[in-house]
Amino acid sequence: MASLPLSPLSSLAGKRLLLGISAGIAAYKSALIVRLLKQAGCEVRVVMTEGAQAFITPLTLQALSGEPVRTSLLDPEAEAGMGHIELARWADAILIAPATADLMARLVHGMADDLLTTLCLASDAPKLMAPAMNQAMWRHPATQRNVAQLAADGWQLIGPAAGDQACGDVGPGRMSEPEAVVNAVAHHFKPTTLAQPSAPHIVITAGPTREALDPVRYLSNHSSGKMGYALAAQATAQGARVTLISGPVNLPTPQGVERIDVETAAQMHQEALRLAPQAAMFIGCAAVADYRAASAAEHKIKKTDDSNTLTLTLVKNPDIIADVAALPASTRPFVVGFAAETQDLAHYAEDKLTRKGLDMIVANDVSQQGQGFGSDDNAALLLWRAPSGTEQLAAPHQTKNQLATLIIHQALSLLSTPLLEL
Ligand code: C5P
Repeated sequence: MASLPLSPLSSLAGKRLLLGISAGIAAYKSALIVRLLKQAGCEVRVVMTEGAQAFITPLTLQALSGEPVRTSLLDPEAEAGMGHIELARWADAILIAPATADLMARLVHGMADDLLTTLCLASDAPKLMAPAMNQAMWRHPATQRNVAQLAADGWQLIGPAAGDQACGDVGPGRMSEPEAVVNAVAHHFKPTTLAQPSAPHIVITAGPTREALDPVRYLSNHSSGKMGYALAAQATAQGARVTLISGPVNLPTPQGVERIDVETAAQMHQEALRLAPQAAMFIGCAAVADYRAASAAEHKIKKTDDSNTLTLTLVKNPDIIADVAALPASTRPFVVGFAAETQDLAHYAEDKLTRKGLDMIVANDVSQQGQGFGSDDNAALLLWRAPSGTEQLAAPHQTKNQLATLIIHQALSLLSTPLLEL
């Protein structure tokens, strides 16, 4: 697989990082984050919400960062030293770890009711956050809407990880480990050089395929291509180099995306297998026709008077995504598939994940009105393989653009779960 390059912590040297800490039990891990950032040569200034101070003391973080910790917007003494706008300008990046559900909701609404949210509004610097909360809170549609909006606003989300939680639950919502958080920040600062391109190459199939029956007729389906095109646009926005293999659709090519037009499943298969071995990720979003005519008629098929029926012989098309997933490990990209189901979403999607050998699958319920085929909206269940089994995330009804942001974010974080280099 053409994997993402590793993220050396050396890219952090000399960088000025504002670390925001909000009120989660994972706040105790923030102390280690400060240590790792300092070891890597970062200048770190810590801002804590009021609630965060119930979990870890400002004094601990002051001792580790070597700088006074800011806790209040209305602190005349602190403002006289470095005003909050000055602090916002000082930061090369803002990292919030842990980010609670409440803080995320406040950021989505552009609130500025404490120092941390004010700094986030006032700063143009890149922003990253490591969410941490109970698994039910993370899965809640309100939080998932906020996740999609934050990603659309340019926030880079790190994690959360899944597993045992402090409250006794098991599931997604734990803050990513400090090493993974720091490595994600380092990855962010890594310089892009031509010799070592940092942008992962993502190949996406989109739209329907058309299988000719004769020179004027074909078999196809209602796929509009909107979801695949939204994925291509969002993957580009999140820094990937994207090639879109597109069936016939009526959509403009997203900016910065390389587009290859195909008609049939066989052509899409050929292009996919040509490009996938050099790619970091392959996303099969196309609604590929399962069958094609055994042989397309050379001339228009004529109506006959002697029969009310017409028999067509169809043969199976290749399963493009299954063939990509079956590439040898050395060339196999991270593979994301889609599943359109009308019932028992999780069960059929998990079966498809395993049967086709995928890494992640996005399942949507096409029996629901106002989402899926042709619509601008969609809801989906994301499932992926994890060491502990299959993990899932329910993405509620939202625009295809918002959903695409979430899918790309989840797939990229599974692809690039960073390795620590100390
Ligand atoms: O088996 P099913 O068509 O439901 O699987 C859907 C997934 O498989 C999608 O990711 C779709 O793009 C992909 N697929 C494919 N080639 C086919 C059929 C489906 O890549 N011939």
